Amino acid sequence: MDVRQDFDRINRAAWNSADATSSLGKLDDWTDAGERAAIEWVRPRVVGEPILDIGIGAGRTVPLLKQVSNRYIGVDYTEKLLNIAKSKYPNDDLRWMDARDMHEFADESFNLVTFSFNGIDCVNYVDRVKILREMYRVLKPGGFIVFSSHNQDGPGCGETIWRLMPRLSLNPIKMAWRTLRTLRVLPLASYNYVRNSRFNQRFEGYSVMNAAAHYFAIVIIYTTIAEQKRQLAEIGFDMEAVFGSLDGRRITETEDTSDTWWFHFVARKPLRGDQA
Ligand SMILES: C[S@@+](CC[C@H](N)C(=O)[O-])C[C@H]1O[C@@H](n2cnc3c(N)ncnc32)[C@H](O)[C@@H]1O
Repeated sequence: MDVRQDFDRINRAAWNSADATSSLGKLDDWTDAGERAAIEWVRPRVVGEPILDIGIGAGRTVPLLKQVSNRYIGVDYTEKLLNIAKSKYPNDDLRWMDARDMHEFADESFNLVTFSFNGIDCVNYVDRVKILREMYRVLKPGGFIVFSSHNQDGPGCGETIWRLMPRLSLNPIKMAWRTLRTLRVLPLASYNYVRNSRFNQRFEGYSVMNAAAHYFAIVIIYTTIAEQKRQLAEIGFDMEAVFGSLDGRRITETEDTSDTWWFHFVARKPLRGDQA
């Protein structure tokens, strides 16, 4: 089975689901301490400069990144989510766009390009490279990209339907509520899980796995720091820093990351003189 053909069909359906619109629509803060730390790291280097924010969904990152610069453009390819963002921020420049083809933007237009909340994991590996190349193209020399991606060695890789089972509680009312909640979502989650976990596959340096989000509706990429560094270097980026999702600490390639759900990568497009 060639999952590369199915990524878009599966994940686009998930982004258009009622669960995605409702859950992403409610978000208005940093996803985790690592995201905040990555943006804080890059902030003094790009403050006031043009920012491109890819995969904005329902607009969570619009006000967060506008604290870095008002010269801000946000894009997403899911019209339903983009419309929520537009209704929240009618005065901002928010556009429909697929990150694999951003020809609307000239080369070297932005000082910072972001793709938050593991959005880049939702396209196949060939398209991931295409997106990173587009990010490189529209970035000014010396500019930065910040994006997050799931950790292949982390607790989320290979989630099973057991993840939905209710946590035990000695309080009977709490236990009954949790059980009811599980029973309500179990039919859809089981259907999705059976359908989508068929695609689970490990490749050299990365994995494709069904994830529990939106009731097992998505199939995503999980990677490692080493593989991401290799991929970024192949495109021309220098990896500058990696932050973990747990506590916002900078992490290194060699440390144990088994408790880290995802990474926030910060990479830089070298200045012309820097290039080998
Ligand atoms: C997990 S959601 C995150 C949304 C938002 N960044 C947030 O943090 O709340 C991933 C988003 O990436 C968008 N996305 C995925 N692939 C994309 C692509 N190729 N081009 C543009 N947007 C994409 C999806 O439509 C979705 O809105």
